Amino acid sequence: MEFSTKVGRPETLKTDAVVVGVHANGELSATAKALDTAAGGAIRAAIKSGDMTGKRGSTLLLRGLAGIASPRVLLVGLGGKDDFNEKAFAEAVRTGVKSLSAKNIALAAADWKVKGRDLEWQARSAVIAARETAFRTDELKSKRDADGSGAEQITLLLGKREAAAERAVRQGTAVANGMELTKRLGNLPGNICTPSYLAEQARALAREWKLGLEVLEGKQLEALKMGSFLSVAKGSAQPPRLIVLKYSGSKKDAKKDRGPVVLVGKGITFDSGGISIKPGAAMDEMKFDMCGAASVLGTMRALAELRLKLNVVGVVAACENMPSSTAVKPGDIVTSMSGQTIEILNTDAEGRLILCDALTYSERFKPAAVIDIATLTGACVVALGNVNSGLFSNNEKLAAQVLAASREATDPTWRMPLDDDYQEQLKSNFADMANIGTPGNAGAVTAACFLSRFTKAYPWAHLDIAGTAWKSGPAKGATGRPVALLAQLLIERAD
Ligand code: BES
Ligand code: MN
Ligand code: ZN
Repeated sequence: MEFSTKVGRPETLKTDAVVVGVHANGELSATAKALDTAAGGAIRAAIKSGDMTGKRGSTLLLRGLAGIASPRVLLVGLGGKDDFNEKAFAEAVRTGVKSLSAKNIALAAADWKVKGRDLEWQARSAVIAARETAFRTDELKSKRDADGSGAEQITLLLGKREAAAERAVRQGTAVANGMELTKRLGNLPGNICTPSYLAEQARALAREWKLGLEVLEGKQLEALKMGSFLSVAKGSAQPPRLIVLKYSGSKKDAKKDRGPVVLVGKGITFDSGGISIKPGAAMDEMKFDMCGAASVLGTMRALAELRLKLNVVGVVAACENMPSSTAVKPGDIVTSMSGQTIEILNTDAEGRLILCDALTYSERFKPAAVIDIATLTGACVVALGNVNSGLFSNNEKLAAQVLAASREATDPTWRMPLDDDYQEQLKSNFADMANIGTPGNAGAVTAACFLSRFTKAYPWAHLDIAGTAWKSGPAKGATGRPVALLAQLLIERAD
């Protein structure tokens, strides 16, 4: 599905279909009005007849209108004008694209104003929403999924030429490409998407987009003294990988000794819980425990496509968390790369154990900022559900930047606390710290507090995406979050 922009009279467009919006009060958008005039009032007549009420989600297809070059005009109900928010916008785009079996579609979504949002937001969001309708997860099915849009070319109609909107379409396309990679990897099962598979995917990305790549294996992780990461990996027959991808988009930064942004992803390709084994219900969803890692790869792809002028390093810690006779046990004490010792009271709190060593490793890049992305705690799902990702940070400026980017990208986050008082829960009688706090007591916060002990050297933010990285139920699947947020942040940081 390719996107472009066009300025011009909609009635003269030679396309398979034009998609225009109608509000619930029967008010026509600007493009609908122009078409209606050209077609001698045919659209108003359809509304008057009651066939199109403008109700959110409704559609009416008009064919062969006199005076209109396109053979089809699709009216999409936008609902009440006051209720027309971000979600309604994305829904209307998806409805418009999905309801048609057309190769070339002209989309008049620039008319659909959302309060507080500009044309750039509309253009970017329209591309991302439309692309969602084309995404299929059928690579492991014997037949292709029939649903999913077959649109090949979508033209976003603009009132006037605007470079910013054209740029936003390119940004939306790159973000959608990144999100698709993240979703595809997230949806792959643990028996295919192993740590070495993730490393191969990173290799393919590096080749295609000319990124630097280093893949560290067991021996090298031992030499780095990553005792915490290795303790999680050792219960599995699948060997761990530490994947390091480098995007160099700014020589100026390097000259000015301005460090890169480092993105650190949790890549547990299956989380059984280990010896502290999880209950059976929905355990299959723990294949999604590498969605943080997948979002790092997806974001690297997006920023390479956008040729952003900044330097970014992606670090993915990938392994499986399995029970076996070689697995780490409750009570075991390990030494992290930082030298701090950890008493592992629960082997299911493994994300922090692999991230802490990846965070210490990240110090070598002298980063301007480090952001880790992890499906870290069930407690974060209890706190924030499936709407906001949890945001924790040791730096006010970085936190404000992430919040602003998340709002601009409609990929929301909510700031959570890191008070010292929570740290007390991590006290261990036998090691520098325990890997869990008091069960049932601010679990998302104590997990972040654990990570904060390894991030003193740089501005750091932690995104707990346990509730936002995938959907359960009938629409089970990875969401591609928070690629849109991360890409937006990097766009804003690039010069
Ligand atoms: N990957 C899980 C977190 C998770 C659970 C994400 C459910 C999404 C849905 C993580 O490794 C984990 O198991 N965390 C434990 C921590 C606890 C033992 C302190 C949890 O949240 O129960
Ligand atoms: Mn776990
Ligand atoms: Zn986990």
